[in-house]
Formats: sequence, structure tokens, C-alpha cells
Amino acid sequence: MKQRAVKILGTGAFVPPRVVTNLDLEKMVETSDDWITTRTGIKERRIASPDETTSVLALAAAREALAKASVPPEDLDLIVVATVTPDMLFPATACLLQKELHARNAACFDLEAGCTGFVYALSVVEKYLVAGGGDTALVVGAETLSKILNWNDRATCVLFGDGAGAVVLGIDEKPGILATILGSDGQGSHLLDLPAGGSRMPASPETLAQNLHFIHMAGNEVFKFAVRVIVDASLRVLEKAHCTMEEVNLFIPHQANIRIIHSAAKRLGLSMDRIFVNVNRYGNTSSASIPLALHEAVVQQRIRSGDLVLLVGFGAGLTWGSALIRW
Ligand code: COA
Repeated sequence: MKQRAVKILGTGAFVPPRVVTNLDLEKMVETSDDWITTRTGIKERRIASPDETTSVLALAAAREALAKASVPPEDLDLIVVATVTPDMLFPATACLLQKELHARNAACFDLEAGCTGFVYALSVVEKYLVAGGGDTALVVGAETLSKILNWNDRATCVLFGDGAGAVVLGIDEKPGILATILGSDGQGSHLLDLPAGGSRMPASPETLAQNLHFIHMAGNEVFKFAVRVIVDASLRVLEKAHCTMEEVNLFIPHQANIRIIHSAAKRLGLSMDRIFVNVNRYGNTSSASIPLALHEAVVQQRIRSGDLVLLVGFGAGLTWGSALIRW
């Protein structure tokens, strides 16, 4: 019997046209280009307009990925949108995307795993396809984090941005996705969260007055966690696929902070020329960061057929995950 394996058939991405630089932020909060650049590596980010919701960004990225893959929307069996900023609490943003794509044969759901959302979705959908749940799927990571940022809080508003990335997955005999690793630690759930608007703290005048509908983060603790799990998740997925770090052609970590990437690279013995970085241009776009970086790497021909690509994500939950892909 032939092996049933999963491969990436096409990638796409979209970012809102509006660029907000560190100099722009200097006019809004007590910060400086120098502070943001040295602490995070971020120089600018994209910010969505009121009309650019998460599903709008997702749609543009999805259309490009489908076109690159030469897959018509009606061939999709499954659509998964990884996001922490859905258009609404329900219905799923994936259903809103399905409507615009006219992908009438697809089952649709959202997946929320913080900034690891895309890697989680990739892993779950790969297993769904291998098990025979369908033959073709669309996985999107899309965020409008600007809409859940407190623009008066300099500790968080300088870090995040908006964007979307998408991949179309299909069945092949030779595996593209060689292995994935997922993990979580709910003990750290309080380190990065958006407290109000759910069943614990429904929206009220008090929650609004206390700024509880915005991102809250313990930056230092998240930083230490991130470096630890990037290293661990990278080594574990390589071991699972019987590969070594020397064989990896391109390492694509979640783009949260250049210092996190440098620390992880040092521990993994990776030189920067094998690491894809675009955090300087987009900031942290959460679930969108890895597929956006993956798409740019493909467009820039940093990834060629046969290359080994390592994706690693980490984020709220706490969650982490990695995927090793033979391109
Ligand atoms: N501009 C200027 N000063 C700022 C600032 C800003 N935008 N944000 C915070 N500061 C100040 C703080 O108030 C603090 O001042 P104080 O010493 O007078 O209290 C000082 O800078 C140092 O703050 P600290 O939080 O210790 O800085 P840091 O070196 O840890 O860097 C982060 C802060 C957020 C950049 C860093 O912790 C980080 O990147 N964490 C990981 C965040 C992340 O990636 N989260 C997403 C994961 S998916």
C-alpha cells in the first residue's frame, strides 16, 4: 500500500498597507526607537484599518496560497484558521473565510493556541489528512492584534502587529511534513492573557474601565520560557525525524523578539545565515508570524526543493510546537 503523507502545495501572505514605525510610536507613548530596537529588534509593524478584520487578512493570504497551489476553493475538505483575534467569539473565522472563498465542501473551525496556533494547526491537519479525513486543506494564521492592544501601555503596544499567512496542504507519497511536536503548560496561563470578554469576566463597564480587554503580559518570564522551549522543541522534533541540526537548511522561529531568536540560536549552535528573520518589519504577529515568514522565505528563494525547514512556535497558554518539513 502507498504511503499517505502530507505536503505543502502553496503558500500565501498578506499584511495591511499601513506601516507604523518606532518613530510614530514615540509620538504616542513614552518610548524611543532606540529602546524598541535594542530590546526587540522591531523597527516597524503593519496596523489594520477598521475595515481590515482578521478574516479580511486571512482571505487575501488564502487566495494567494490557493493560486500558488493551483487548488480551486471547492476542492478544500478542511479550513482551519489559527488566531487569537477572531472576527467574533463565534462563528469561527474559518467559516467567514469559507463564505468568501466559496469553499462549500470544507469543514471549518478555528484553533487557538496563542502564538503557536499555526504550528498546532499544521500538526493537527497533517494528522487529519494522513488519517483519511480529507485530501486537501487550507491552514491560515491570521491576526489583528492592534485591535486588542492598549495603545497607552508602552510595555506591550510596541511589540505586536497585524498580518496573515496561509498554506495549502495536500496528499503525496513522499512526506513533506516529516514530524511535529506540540506541548502546553497551563500553569503559565496567567503570564500572557486577555482577561475579560469571556465567561470568567463578561464585558462590563468595569472591565472596560480597567483595560481588561487588552493583552496583558509578564515580559521577562515569557522571554525565559521562550528561549527554553525553542531549544527543546527544536531538538525533540529533529530527534523524532532522525535528523540533525546540521542538516537544517532554514530555521523559522516565531518572530517575537530578535533577542529571543539570538539566545536560542546560540544554544542550538545555529549561525544567523540559516535563520529567517522578519520581526524587524512586522513585530510579533502571533499565529501569523510563522506562515508569513515561511511565505517570504519561499518568495525570496531562501527555501529550495529538497531543503529541510524547521518551524518553531511558542506563546500564550503557555504553548509550544515545532514542525520539520522536507520541501
Ligand atoms: N519604551 C521604553 N521603556 C520601556 C518600554 C518601552 N516601550 N517598555 C518597558 N519599558 C521600561 C520598563 O518600564 C522598565 O522601566 P523601569 O526599569 O523603570 O521599571 C524598563 O523599560 C525595563 O523593562 P523590562 O520589562 O525589564 O525590559 P526587558 O529588557 O525585559 O524587555 C520585553 C521587555 C517585553 C521587550 C522583553 O521582556 C520581552 O521581549 N519579553 C518577551 C515578550 C514576548 O515576546 N512575548 C510574546 C511571546 S509569544
